[in-house]
This record gives sequence, structure tokens and C-alpha cells, in this order.
Amino acid sequence: MPTGSAHNADATVGAVLVDGPALSRRVSELGLEISRDYEGRELLLVGVLKGAVFFISDLMRALHVPCEVDFMAVASYGDATSSSGVVRILKDLDRPIEGRDVLLVEDIVDSGLTLSYLLRTLRARAPASLEVCALLTKPGRRKIDLPIRYVGFEIPDRFVVGYGLDYRERYRNLPYVAALERSTRAL
Ligand code: XMP
Ligand code: MG
Repeated sequence: MPTGSAHNADATVGAVLVDGPALSRRVSELGLEISRDYEGRELLLVGVLKGAVFFISDLMRALHVPCEVDFMAVASYGDATSSSGVVRILKDLDRPIEGRDVLLVEDIVDSGLTLSYLLRTLRARAPASLEVCALLTKPGRRKIDLPIRYVGFEIPDRFVVGYGLDYRERYRNLPYVAALERSTRAL
């Protein structure tokens, strides 16, 4: 396990895949689309910590329908860059979602295993509706076919960081989404 200043010496930020202006434009478009779809209803946004925090806070401000926000934190048993689908809830929602129109907001859907678990868990709580909004998806990596109603961007099979996404907790604050370049030592 690397420590101290060598913490991320095995990785650097590479090519920008989605720049800041493209992120803002797409978030505004999603905000309009979601607002149209939920007109006359009240939305509960459920964000998945920590990656979705940046996206959900921008998305909320692009919505024109009344909305509330709640968060879950999950840990996926896996390594630093892939999930196993065995998910543990670290922080549950503060409030019940029964009868609510719920929009689950994810940073990225990769294999789909994490999302599949979350959907099963939330569906069991009898929301009035349950849809998904994911900033990024990697369709090439999908192991389960899942209904993702709103997608920001489809990206190639690269590990990405920025705009909430991390590599070992670093790079969440980058105002764009970039590919992570790893040295052969870390692969
Ligand atoms: P699955 O495979 O379950 O993975 O769909 C979803 C979760 O894995 C993390 N993930 C990433 N995190 N850059 C990241 O920073 C990536 O390219 C990436 N791909 C997957 C993320 O936590 C996501 O919720
Ligand atoms: Mg992560």
C-alpha cells in the first residue's frame, strides 16, 4: 500500500474526455429534460456518495421542479478500480422513500453491479417511481442490462477521474473528466 507523498505516484491524469463547458451544457440539458418529465410532481434525488456529490449539486440547480435530496454511501467489495457487485451500505437514506418519486443519481455505471444492487434495495421500499440518472456510463463494460433513464455521456472503457470521480480518493475536485494513466507497475 503506497503511503505519504508517493500515494498516487503510480498514476497521473491523462487526456480530458469531457471538459468543463461540456459538463455544464449537458447538466443543463438533463435538468430541462428531467423537469419536463416530472412536471407537477415533487422529486427526491438520491445521490450515491461520494462520487455523485458534484453532479447532483449541479443537477439540482438545473431543475425547475420542487425537489429534495438525500444520500447513501455504499462500499463495493473489489479493488481500487473495479467492483464485485457485493455491496455494503455504509450510510442509508435519512428518510423513507415509500410513495416518493425517486431519481437515483450516480456518477458512473461501469459493470452495473453496484447500480443493480441499489435498485433492488430501493425498489423494495415501494417508491411511487424509481429512475436512474448517471453522469457517465461505460456501455462496453456492462455485465447486467439496466434501465438508465438519463445518461450524461457514454465513455469508452477507461478508468476516469474528476468531477467527483476519484482514484484512491484523489482528483475528485478536477473540473473535468479525464482518463487516468497508470504506470505498468500498478496494472
Ligand atoms: P459498477 O462496476 O458496479 O461500478 O457499475 C460502479 C462504481 O465503480 C466505481 N467506478 C469508477 N470510479 N472512475 C472512478 O472514479 C471510473 O472510471 C470508475 N468506474 C467505476 C464508481 O464508484 C461507481 O459508482
Ligand atoms: Mg471511487
